[in-house]
Amino acid sequence: MSEEWVKVCDEKSLTNGDMLDFDHGSKKILVAKAGGKVYATDRICTHAYADLSTGIMNEEEKTVTCPLHLSAFNLETGLPQNLPAEEPLKPYKVKIQDNAIYIKLD
Ligand code: FES
Repeated sequence: MSEEWVKVCDEKSLTNGDMLDFDHGSKKILVAKAGGKVYATDRICTHAYADLSTGIMNEEEKTVTCPLHLSAFNLETGLPQNLPAEEPLKPYKVKIQDNAIYIKLD
């Protein structure tokens, strides 16, 4: 399986407490900055179809809450913190290089 680092945006385009959508091929990815660190996970809720970029991010707890039925997901691990979602979001590795944000896709 091939893996690649893909550039998302300049680091300064994503401020602390913000999220952005990133699409690459058929992948829909959520990129979020919390506590000065950048995280990336799949963007579509694992419970039903909801786009987590329209949800609410809790910067302190490093979670995003689904706008539809309010499951919160840990941005680092993708694990749901409460029902009804039971399956984790897929997390992606992130690196900052040359003042830009990259995520590793497979
Ligand atoms: S669609 Fe996200 S919790 Fe139901």
